[in-house]
Amino acid sequence: MSDLHHRVEETQAILARIARDFSPAVFASSLAAEDMVLTDLILKAQLPIGIFSLETGRLHAETLAMLDRVRETYGHEIALFRPQPDAVDAYVARNGLNAFYDSVEMRKECCRIRKVEPLGRALAGKQAWITGQRRAQSTTRAELAVQEFDAGHELQKFNPLADWSEENIWEYLRAHQVPYNALHDRGYPSIGCEPCTRAVQPGEDVRAGRWWWENPESKECGLHLVDGKLIRIKSVAA
Ligand code: ADX
Ligand code: SF4
Repeated sequence: MSDLHHRVEETQAILARIARDFSPAVFASSLAAEDMVLTDLILKAQLPIGIFSLETGRLHAETLAMLDRVRETYGHEIALFRPQPDAVDAYVARNGLNAFYDSVEMRKECCRIRKVEPLGRALAGKQAWITGQRRAQSTTRAELAVQEFDAGHELQKFNPLADWSEENIWEYLRAHQVPYNALHDRGYPSIGCEPCTRAVQPGEDVRAGRWWWENPESKECGLHLVDGKLIRIKSVAA
């Protein structure tokens, strides 16, 4: 028996509350499956919530193609935030184009330049931001709250899909004919930058293909970390 209907209603209510009580609010979309569920809910309800993507310069062509799919389907332009060119040039000149394979530190520095710094600009002046994170995605997300205070960026952070299962996501996308990243049908349950994501085998963890050469504990890019640590901010009652 599907619990999707209930989850959708709850998520619609959370999104409406964010739009009403935390304006201006923005949604960070990686253009992957979870984020297409939120995109569909936000745009169909015409909520005044901005949608942006961090265009790292290393995304798959299939991911970038989703920008066109969203424009065609909803008539909506997703805002893009890109890394500072000087910071990228200096990192590449000093360390090489793919230095993230060399050490966790090098990897985190690349993520800092290509994702974390642009995220700071995307969140400037906002009261809340929304992500597509789910608890079931990884051990580091097992305690994820629907609403947290993001002390690093000093604003509210919402994870409206925290309770959703992978099945819920796909049931929603199919039922509502939402466009999704073509890589999902080629063994990629989780999609980040092209050089740091690979397909997984059936039965493997959904994030096994992300930074596959690292330990599971280090597999976060810093978007959801504060000062390099995973901080579980105390949940705020809804
Ligand atoms: S990551 O931290 O490991 O990269 P993941 O790919 O699971 O994150 O995505 C979790 C959430 O982080 C997404 O649902 C989205 O809200 C946000 N996010 C991740 N990557 C991006 C991106 N490139 N642009 C905007 N938001 C992103
Ligand atoms: Fe760099 Fe890989 Fe992080 Fe993308 S995921 S910012 S390429 S280290």
